[in-house]
Parts: sequence; structure tokens; C-alpha cells
Amino acid sequence: MTLLAILAALLAAAFFGLWRTADRKVMAAKGKVPGSPIPQRPIQEIDPLFALTRFGPSRDTEVAHIAQVHVEGGISDLESWILCNLAKSARRIFEFGTATGKTTYLMARSAPEARITTITLHPDDLDSGRHEKTDDKALQTSARRESAFADFLYSGTDAAPRIEQLFGDSKAFDETAYLEAFDLIFVDGAHTESYVRSDTQKALAMLAPGGWLVWHDYVGPRVPGVFKVLNALSRTLPLVRIKGTTFVAHHKPAG
Ligand SMILES: C[S@@+](CC[C@H](N)C(=O)[O-])C[C@H]1O[C@@H](n2cnc3c(N)ncnc32)[C@H](O)[C@@H]1O
Repeated sequence: MTLLAILAALLAAAFFGLWRTADRKVMAAKGKVPGSPIPQRPIQEIDPLFALTRFGPSRDTEVAHIAQVHVEGGISDLESWILCNLAKSARRIFEFGTATGKTTYLMARSAPEARITTITLHPDDLDSGRHEKTDDKALQTSARRESAFADFLYSGTDAAPRIEQLFGDSKAFDETAYLEAFDLIFVDGAHTESYVRSDTQKALAMLAPGGWLVWHDYVGPRVPGVFKVLNALSRTLPLVRIKGTTFVAHHKPAG
């Protein structure tokens, strides 16, 4: 094969990969997740904070914002607005998967009293991941690719003292020191099935009564780990898909 043909093949593969990512997000945002057993509702029907006024969302939903101009694995502007609003009534927040630290930073800015703990793989320690043989190979690769940061968007800001940064494999993380400690937990680490299952079990143990648990990237069988684990969980726990997003949420009853 000539160099030109190899380059053309690489470009086509990259384009196809980008198209698939964009496509599944658009499909999910439109509520099209074929075969999903999880009901979908608009955020304004899920939490009174988001109730619409005649002007649309109220001033009470104002948050810190930086636009999502493509960052791999990043959340959309609507997802960020929802998460930052849920953060405002949280005293303690936990995030599986820091990446650039953008979501961590925006939650900290939107919730000036909250303390945030966030865990990520260190770029020098990528081999500590414990994926299982059955875990999707492409998702293992993206988990490693997204682990590129050892300093973050929040580093050096006045939000930094309220952020506890953990480096390490989330399967090795001991959640027993944080039982029922967090009012908001965002599950957005490795997306392979065994990790989503493990992170979810830990998140459920760490969620305080009245707290919110939110998962990212519920887009159907193309991210099979998130799809399988949450579909199974929906048989025993009330879950809701948030319209216009790839979020699935669980609101733990207070008391
Ligand atoms: C999709 S990105 C997170 C995006 C981020 N939550 C945001 O909103 O911008 C996935 C993150 O999970 C982390 N990650 C991947 N595998 C991990 C593992 N085994 N343990 C802990 N973190 C992991 C990556 O380092 C990366 O920071």
C-alpha cells in the first residue's frame, strides 16, 4: 500500500470514529436509546429547582460556565448546567474520572461551600487499571487516552483548596471511609463493564440520604458497560434518563 493509501485509510477511520461518537450522543440526547428499560423525563419534571418560568429556566439555575468545545470524554453544556445546579445543594461531592478537571472546577465555582473529592488515573500509572478479559477493548483504550492529566483546570485557583484530588485505580479505592458521605456523586471514570459495576457499587455505598447519583454516557449498546450495568440496576433501583443528555440519575430518598 502506498503512503497516500495508508493516510487515506487513517483519515477515514478517524472520521468514522468521530462520527460514531457524535451520532450516539445525538441519538441519546434525542431520547433514542433503543431497548432501554429506563424511563426518560425532562429535568424540569425531575427536580423543582429546574421548574420553568415564563422566561424559561429561572435565575436560580445560574451556574459557572465554560463551553464544551470538543474535549474527549467531556460533558455537554446542558449536562454541565444540570450537574452544577445539583452541586449547589451538596455539601460534599464525589467524581469518578477527573480528566481535565473542567467539571470539577465548574461544580466548585457553582457551589462555593461544597467540598469535592475526585479520582483519576495518573498518566504515569496507566498500567494499574484492572480491566477484565470480557471488558470492551476500545473502551479500555479510551480510558487510558483520557488519563492524560496530572494538573487540572482548577489547579492554582481559589477553588483548589476545596478539591481533594485522588490518583489511582477506582477499583482499588476504599469507599468504606466515605459511607453515606456524599450528596452528589458523578460516575464518569473507566466505561468498561467491570469498572462501571465497581464504581456504581462504591457510589451507592457512599451516597447520602437525599443525595443524587448521576452516570454519564448512557447511549445504548455502543457503550455496553454503562448500558448493561444500568439496565440491570434499573430492576431494583428507581433510575431516570434526563432528556437532552446522556445522563442517568438516581435520587436517594431522604431519611
Ligand atoms: C470521560 S473522562 C472524565 C471526564 C470528566 N468527568 C469531565 O466531566 O470532564 C474519564 C476519566 O476517567 C479516568 N479513569 C479511567 N480509568 C480509570 C480508573 N481505572 N480509575 C480511575 N479513573 C479512571 C480517566 O483518567 C479520565 O480522567
